[in-house]
Amino acid sequence: MSAPAAASVGGATAPDPAAAVDMSVRLTAPAGTVDLAAGVLTASGCAAAGRELDPYLDLTTLGGVVTKTIMRGARSGRPTPRMAETPSGMLNSIGLQGPGIAHFLAHDLPWVAERGARAVVSVAGEDVEEFVDIARTLRAATSDDGPLGRPGTDGGVLAAVEVNISCPNVANRGLVFACDPGSAAEVVAAVRAATDPRVPVLAKLSPDVTDIVAIARSVLAAGADGLVMVNTLLGVAIDVDRGAPVLSRVTGGLSGPAIRPVAVRCVWQVTAAMRAGLLPTVPVVGVGGVRTGRDAAELVLAGASAVQVGTVTFGDPGAPARVRDELAAVVRHHGLGSLAGLVGRAHDAVRDGGHP
Ligand SMILES: Cc1cc2nc3c(=O)[nH]c(=O)nc-3n(C[C@H](O)[C@H](O)[C@H](O)COP(=O)(O)O)c2cc1C
Repeated sequence: MSAPAAASVGGATAPDPAAAVDMSVRLTAPAGTVDLAAGVLTASGCAAAGRELDPYLDLTTLGGVVTKTIMRGARSGRPTPRMAETPSGMLNSIGLQGPGIAHFLAHDLPWVAERGARAVVSVAGEDVEEFVDIARTLRAATSDDGPLGRPGTDGGVLAAVEVNISCPNVANRGLVFACDPGSAAEVVAAVRAATDPRVPVLAKLSPDVTDIVAIARSVLAAGADGLVMVNTLLGVAIDVDRGAPVLSRVTGGLSGPAIRPVAVRCVWQVTAAMRAGLLPTVPVVGVGGVRTGRDAAELVLAGASAVQVGTVTFGDPGAPARVRDELAAVVRHHGLGSLAGLVGRAHDAVRDGGHP
């Protein structure tokens, strides 16, 4: 970790605006560590595999591109309409549309590798077997000495696997994996076992649960190397003129600024439990409503080691790089030289009586 970027101005210590901030973040896997260039990544489903963002920012300077969730076969997703604007947020019911793992491995992952960027590959299945199948296929395609580089290392495109447990389990009457500690743990344990031990496995949790700490506990016990919080919240929008739901399948996932306080709360609760010794300490990636570096800083101050940038990217494709630079400015404002120094500081403020 680099020294704090502070300069002495008239006897007081002030951040030096020109000093570089170490924005890197380290993830740990059972058999290695992965250093990401920056603790700012794209969010799954909001930037495909990065191609659309490439003209607007240098992908190699981000922590990575989190891919759209990949499933086994090609899926057309849910019928339209599947997007709705809501006050300070968006409802979507895309339904995990995509060309499937074979197409992804043939076309998308090699492109990210060629570009010199890193990918966090988001995976899902309708049952545990599909999760395992995809994890195995991904492992086989990213084995040593292949064109994609050594997985989990700085030479390899595959930086981590993100397990999207927010999809319904077909074998369990459609119950969402992430809403049940047992199902969530079963999926994570199976993906961890099927994934290269040098590659961190991150579990992406849903905020739509009564006790997020209980879900975090079960996926960590199952071998998750890190947590991503949060996926979208379930919502419904009604078209009052038509007197009918806006989305074809009624419900959708709410994202955008409206959900940021929920994401900050989830990060806060889980990292508080880690700091109290009630959960193992692992990196937490915060996601939900980040539009600016200050928004990202809320998640970091709440305990996130890294953040993902999602919905804002649709209107501002350069947003992930802008958020990274703005977040670096917040780190400097606090007189620090590294993003790691800012992680969880709001907990310290509460402990030290720093609350207004
Ligand atoms: C259009 C759209 C598609 C998404 N697709 C996925 C997905 O495939 N997998 C996933 O884990 N999350 C998906 N998400 C959720 C985002 O990754 C993120 O968790 C959520 O949108 C909150 O972050 P944001 O407010 O910055 O968008 C999607 C979100 C949107 C808006």
